[in-house]
Amino acid sequence: MTKKWWHDKVVYQIYPKSFYDPNGDGIGDIPGIICKLDYLRELGVDILWLSPCYQSPLADQGYDISDYYAIDPRFGTMEDMERLIAEAKKRGMYILMDLVVNHCSDEHEWFRRACEDPDGKYGDFFYLRKKEEGKLPTNWRSYFGGPVWEDLPGTDRQYLHVFHKKQPDLNWENPELREEVYKNINWWLDKGLGGFRIDAIMNIKKALPLRDYEPDREDGLSSISNMLQDADGIGRFLGEMRDRTFKKYDAFSVGEIFNEKPEDLPDLIGENGYFSSMFDFNETTFGESPKGWYDAAPITPDDYKRCCFEAQARIGDIGFLSNIIENHDRPRGVSHFIPEGECCTESKKLLAALNFMLRGIPFIYQGQELGMENTVFSSIDEVDDISTHDEYRTALDAGLTPEEALKAVSRFSRDNARTPMQWSAEKNAGFTKGTPWLRVNPNYTSINAAAQMADPDSVRSFYKRLIALRKDPAYKETVVYGLLEPVWEERHNLMAYYRRGEKTLLVIGNQQKETQEVTLPCGHTKVLINNYPDMEEHDGTIRLKAYQVLVLEMCQ
Ligand code: GLC
Ligand code: CA
Repeated sequence: MTKKWWHDKVVYQIYPKSFYDPNGDGIGDIPGIICKLDYLRELGVDILWLSPCYQSPLADQGYDISDYYAIDPRFGTMEDMERLIAEAKKRGMYILMDLVVNHCSDEHEWFRRACEDPDGKYGDFFYLRKKEEGKLPTNWRSYFGGPVWEDLPGTDRQYLHVFHKKQPDLNWENPELREEVYKNINWWLDKGLGGFRIDAIMNIKKALPLRDYEPDREDGLSSISNMLQDADGIGRFLGEMRDRTFKKYDAFSVGEIFNEKPEDLPDLIGENGYFSSMFDFNETTFGESPKGWYDAAPITPDDYKRCCFEAQARIGDIGFLSNIIENHDRPRGVSHFIPEGECCTESKKLLAALNFMLRGIPFIYQGQELGMENTVFSSIDEVDDISTHDEYRTALDAGLTPEEALKAVSRFSRDNARTPMQWSAEKNAGFTKGTPWLRVNPNYTSINAAAQMADPDSVRSFYKRLIALRKDPAYKETVVYGLLEPVWEERHNLMAYYRRGEKTLLVIGNQQKETQEVTLPCGHTKVLINNYPDMEEHDGTIRLKAYQVLVLEMCQ
């Protein structure tokens, strides 16, 4: 495998709206990110991925872009963005932006011009169909609920939107549209970006001609995934994008890719893949139901282990997955993956270490390093996220009471991860002096960065140790490139694996509060990571405490 500059990096995802708000309007902003660069540098992260801060009506919190060349004034100015890139660079850090090009906003100029003249140049930037009374062009269900077709204002056409109706899909079949996208990517890369996280990218290729699929819910509609399974030929677009943009700059690109076929992995992220990396969503999507969030199954520690090992086995040494515990679309990982009632400092550290030591590029979502938890919603009116509102309606339609529906969607609401970053025990968690755009999680008085920075045993201090181990010249080659080999796979609530490179490391995690013992196959020379002050060992047998996690250096 050719070594790349991003292989040994650690990425930190920032959700700008909720990160830090120095000017007190209740909305986090780019100057706020600049204020916190030293905090991030001190943690040890190298690459910052910013969720969108382009000009946007914020119908889907910035994933609906109305100008790809402008920063939304709520987040700052273009000068702020340039300053951020420069300040990051001074600290040896890189900035990634979010590339959202499956769709734009219905307030984008292209869309406005398509409405004015659907038969003109911009009409072909979108998927438009003649409106027929009583019949939609296809029966696809949008990701955010309801049909994917909406009337194109002032015309006799309808347009396609696989996400919200304020997010019209762009027509990638049109070479002129593709040129516009590449021009924009290169414009940003010329500004010195390290690369992009690429949003919802597998949706850009539609199965043509557009047609109906088997309905899969009472509403008579069919999930987009049914159409996507049928869509061939995305490689032509992705390969072209790579060659025209990322490749020329040696930029880092990480794709948001779901439901890929194993045989496509080499094309996606192999040597000369379309992307540098892609997220492993095997754990976060486990238990999902086609019926909706209300029907999702919980994930047990054994499931978690199986999901990680499956993903690792599938990728082997083809390329580098990007490993996540959570992101802005998911509940907080500690609330989701740790069994109910057992979320504590030790179990949070265990989850961190088991994930961080996997082969791939570790991503930390803001607040994850503090072990931030899901928030509490006392009413659906407290929820901002559009997809939570849709899932709430789906749950009610399925016969759940409002209380049950609220409880069900609270477990998955995207707002769990979007509450403001908890900086300190001060008012509003030190996020803003104004009124935060989304309610702060009330537990900020106990979970916050200030307290954890002062505490060598905090979750954050533990993350710092994990990052430091990844960078330690003595272990780096093994942690970054070493092969992963599961061990004791059949043991209940025990996740363990070797990382084999220049050195041999053994990661062992006891995923339960009861103690359990493991007998090491050979001796070890060092305990590199331990979430307890000590390790109980007699004659090669280790008695693991509640949620104890260890990284051992083994004798060769
Ligand atoms: C991606 C984003 C999500 C957004 C969607 C539509 O999944 O992560 O936040 O709603 O794409 O852009
Ligand atoms: Ca602000």
